[in-house]
Amino acid sequence: PTPVILDCDPGHDDVFAIWLAAANPEIDLRAITTVGGNGRLSHTTYNARVVTELAGITGVPISPGADAPLERPLSPAEWIHGANALGGPELPVPTVEADPRTAIELIRDTLDAPGEPVTIVATGPLTNLAQFVRAHPERLSRIREIVWMGGSTGRGNITPYAEFNAWTDPEAAAIVLGSGLRFTMIGLNVTHQALATREVIARIGAVGTRAAAFGVELLTFFNSTYEIDQGMPEGPVHDPVAMALVARPALVTTVPARIDIELRGTETAGATSVDLLNKLKRPPNAHVATGLDVEGFWDLIEDALRALS
Ligand code: BDR
Ligand code: CA
Repeated sequence: PTPVILDCDPGHDDVFAIWLAAANPEIDLRAITTVGGNGRLSHTTYNARVVTELAGITGVPISPGADAPLERPLSPAEWIHGANALGGPELPVPTVEADPRTAIELIRDTLDAPGEPVTIVATGPLTNLAQFVRAHPERLSRIREIVWMGGSTGRGNITPYAEFNAWTDPEAAAIVLGSGLRFTMIGLNVTHQALATREVIARIGAVGTRAAAFGVELLTFFNSTYEIDQGMPEGPVHDPVAMALVARPALVTTVPARIDIELRGTETAGATSVDLLNKLKRPPNAHVATGLDVEGFWDLIEDALRALS
């Protein structure tokens, strides 16, 4: 299995990325780091503890990272994820504490463990990873690649052209993209195919476990806020698509392309300029997702839920 660190901001869809990482046999989930994004860091860290424990996931350290973007204030996405970033279900009080190390320390120690290089899947703003790149350039060779849910080849969701994770910390995204690390972007153009339809929710409910029932409550809440905010009564379950690429690469089609992050646009800050037609004649710096096997993706999620408690 591929060793993986998951950097996330749970967040309804992040939860499915956590569960997929923990349960899929092709992934060896070594660590979870949290970041301020969908909610404040205190909430995203708490939520990571809640959803690992309730699904019976043990032995995966969880460390909090950055509570705010590098150069901008944090605007938690309360209108989508609720005041605690995990609106909907009642949250059980977790018994397992967060790891005493910071996210940067936990990433460092995980990379230092013997064995093959580690893949980092990021499903929130890239603040932690930008800080790591700055703090530990000597360790980047221990990172196999970064797979990020963020950006879009087309329109955005928080402004007309910016996707939420990119918009929250565009400076961080630019640092990580400029690091030379292998980088794959799973943007809205693909995650908007992974919709929590009625059939999907019924399938998950039929799994019959505690995590699955909790997942149904999450998706029901998520669909209600997506309908109000985005006019989408079937919300896109973005984040596990990034994990699915690592678990089963054939599910996601990617192409090499140049991505530049808009940092100063008066209307477009945080937009990902993806040069799919190579108009700018700059060398590609990323792989960009362009397609998803939707059926295969939900099969993977269902299999993961069946393996959890
Ligand atoms: C991204 O923003 C967050 O709301 C989701 O968790 C996902 O990571 C989608 O734009
Ligand atoms: Ca997220």
